[in-house]
Amino acid sequence: MARYLVTSALPYANGPLHLGHLAGAYLPADIFVRFLRMKGEDVLYVCGTDEHGVPITLTAEKQGRTPREVVDEYHEMIRRDFEAFGISFDNFSRTSRPCHHEFAQKVFLDLLAAGYIVERPLSQLHCPSCNRFLPDRYVQGTCPRCGKPGARGDQCESCGSWLEALELQQPICAICGATPGPRETRHWFLKLDMFQDWLRGWLSSREGWRDNVLNYCRGWLDEGLQERAITRDIEWGVPVPLPGAEGKVLYVWFEALLGYVSSTRECLEKRGSGAAWTDYWKNPDCRLVHFIGKDNIVFHAIIEPAILHGLGDYILPWNIPANEFLNIGGQKQSTSRGTAVWMRDYLGRFPADPMRYALTINAPEGRDTEFTWGEFRIRNNELADVLGNFVNRTVSFAAREFEGTIPSSGSPGDAEAALSARARETAVEIDTLISQFRIKAALMSAMSLAREANRYFDSSEPWKTARTDRAKCAGTMAMCLQMVDWLRLAFTPFLPFSAARIREMVPSSADDMESMGTETVAAGTRLGKTAILFEKLDEGFERVFEKAAPDGKASAPPKAKAPERPEGLVSFDYFMKLDLRAGVILSAEPVEGADKLLKLMVDTGDPAPRQVVAGIRKHYDLSSLPGRRVVVVCNLEPAKLRGVDSNGMLLASDGVNGVLLVEPAVSAVPGDRVR
Ligand code: MF3
Ligand code: ZN
Repeated sequence: MARYLVTSALPYANGPLHLGHLAGAYLPADIFVRFLRMKGEDVLYVCGTDEHGVPITLTAEKQGRTPREVVDEYHEMIRRDFEAFGISFDNFSRTSRPCHHEFAQKVFLDLLAAGYIVERPLSQLHCPSCNRFLPDRYVQGTCPRCGKPGARGDQCESCGSWLEALELQQPICAICGATPGPRETRHWFLKLDMFQDWLRGWLSSREGWRDNVLNYCRGWLDEGLQERAITRDIEWGVPVPLPGAEGKVLYVWFEALLGYVSSTRECLEKRGSGAAWTDYWKNPDCRLVHFIGKDNIVFHAIIEPAILHGLGDYILPWNIPANEFLNIGGQKQSTSRGTAVWMRDYLGRFPADPMRYALTINAPEGRDTEFTWGEFRIRNNELADVLGNFVNRTVSFAAREFEGTIPSSGSPGDAEAALSARARETAVEIDTLISQFRIKAALMSAMSLAREANRYFDSSEPWKTARTDRAKCAGTMAMCLQMVDWLRLAFTPFLPFSAARIREMVPSSADDMESMGTETVAAGTRLGKTAILFEKLDEGFERVFEKAAPDGKASAPPKAKAPERPEGLVSFDYFMKLDLRAGVILSAEPVEGADKLLKLMVDTGDPAPRQVVAGIRKHYDLSSLPGRRVVVVCNLEPAKLRGVDSNGMLLASDGVNGVLLVEPAVSAVPGDRVR
């Protein structure tokens, strides 16, 4: 049986991660892996932080800290952000761990013994004022290929060429700005030229690989592969394991690629399940899949295969679904330039799934795509309108009309049979598309099933048959609830958090997409509490973020008038007299003749909805309100506003970004006390 070893590029532990990282190498991999797990495939998904090399030491020097302090901090931050986005690694390692150092050193020695690595004298840029060698990004200059300034000693980001520092025109030291000069030293080289012919043959026989990957490689091979120095003169890294090589470490790219193997080894050792890392890395039936961004293609499609081939008995990448970039304001998101939307900034305010949705539906699969908060809002609202709406209307209708249980379906008619068939087709389609790494198209397929479900709900008109034909109504709702479960299955790889919440509302034991189109929910099952899946966003929300986006330059926030603060103190007991509760807005309508007021019906956990008049008409789009979670002051003296009764007040903040309703956590339910 085939098994899968899936990897995502090891992120440098030199800064927080941004949405470009997520969209390129992690989210698609996670969706792929979750899908394989649902199918019951044997799959291992490994990653870890890339903790060596110049990106780390430069960051440390700029921050006046040690590399160790930098990587410890960012490893933890990155790990938590991934977890919060639901990226489901089986192991998330670190290249600074001893297990990785040992493995990388062994590979170096093996390749040296096999004659694929040689030692040679080499001239390197040396900074006279810092008195040290300047590897890679320690030098900047003008790119000899495209002529653009700002190229680094290892690579030009403008044209993508891989450079040697000595080739740079007008080089300067990135630390002090002095002009460095060449100085003799010794280094070890990977003889890539020895792999040229083999690589050409191997690459030309790859099937189902993306064109961007194959084209990049062809370009490289046409230029002719050359020996590459794989050691550097810096302190931080995997030491070159040879006598007389003090002060030299393995080049970060050479050893980081081996991090996939050491993370696999660490994972299986921790599990102690008897499976060995060689059951993956030396098993010809194991499919190695690397998810990366396009800037990493050469490393994964040329260097790594060369190393693995040189080692002899390792498997080679089965596919490398490299993505293009997710840009912001037309520019690549970059940690070093500080132009990015950070995952943690987003996660501080919103749940993971709407972003998983927006990034996947707008995935940079065949071309660069552009991220804007406006686009995010539209995608979020689309998700709420299509999937969220169907689930919520179905579950709340069943809760109301069928006492919160799944009614029995009677005998299904044509519409029901067609819908079941459609669900089965969707499952097959998603399978086909994900297997071809067409993740975005797979998500669109799931969405179109959700649209179909809404159409079925609308055309069956259960709100009418509830009064005229109970049996028909029961049949419709049984079908809709069944559909909710199929949709949950279809969306599980993409929106894992929402899928879990749907399952709390509509209990089911089905776990695989093959069950779509078959009966997975039973009549008589009690439904869970209705919860709003996705919250709609209005334009006010974008302003919160656009201060830091979209051109990457933070613009000054608009000046707010200093808020009035009440004077004096209140006792705790006094405060506790307030009856503050979590609630959900059920409906909203304008108050006649008042351009600021809305009449809202709010579920505050009482048997009947509560009517509240709120002055938020200018700040919120009417249609975005139903379903929104709010905090309500329930024991405020009743009042009449423009002749309309109001029995409470909604809490909102009022400041720089206008009036924004305060919302309790997603899992708080109407009636929960707030204090
Ligand atoms: N750290 C590199 C980056 O962020 C990716 C390393 S991938 C590995 O671009 F395979 F080398 F680990
Ligand atoms: Zn210098």
